[in-house]
Amino acid sequence: MAYDLAVNGQTHHVDADPATPLLWILREQLGLPGTKFGCGAGLCGACTVHLDGVATRSCQVPLGTVGTQQITTIEGLGTPAARHPVQKAWIDIQVPQCGYCQSGMIMAVAALLAHTAAPTDDQINTEITNICRCGTYPRVRRAIHALAQAGEATSHG
Ligand code: FES
Ligand code: FES
Repeated sequence: MAYDLAVNGQTHHVDADPATPLLWILREQLGLPGTKFGCGAGLCGACTVHLDGVATRSCQVPLGTVGTQQITTIEGLGTPAARHPVQKAWIDIQVPQCGYCQSGMIMAVAALLAHTAAPTDDQINTEITNICRCGTYPRVRRAIHALAQAGEATSHG
């Protein structure tokens, strides 16, 4: 079936089975490989994108259910020339290790900070459930608190 998807501010025409996970549409049809495949089961968060600003695991979203929701991927969050504050903090604090989980982690954190400017550790624990096999959790937490302190919680993305 044919669909028009709103991805990173542009409309993309795709033709695929409605049950196809959004993750595969983004990676294989739209050429946006920043969103990663980890578990394919909704557990790890590597595939996190924003749907109308809400952090969402794209491996669990069938294409046919997306409709007119605005999809934002890591490629649309910021660019090397105009980085999102979360991306800047990730560089300042050197959060990533191997990096594989980090685009999903950044998307989840950006969505959290967009609605909660200064999250508590409990809120971080509840909302940021992405899995990082390199164990970057302490640096993720430090970066979130640094962003909150700097008042750089931002609603864009
Ligand atoms: S790949 Fe989607 S949650 Fe792991
Ligand atoms: S930085 Fe390696 S899995 Fe998270």
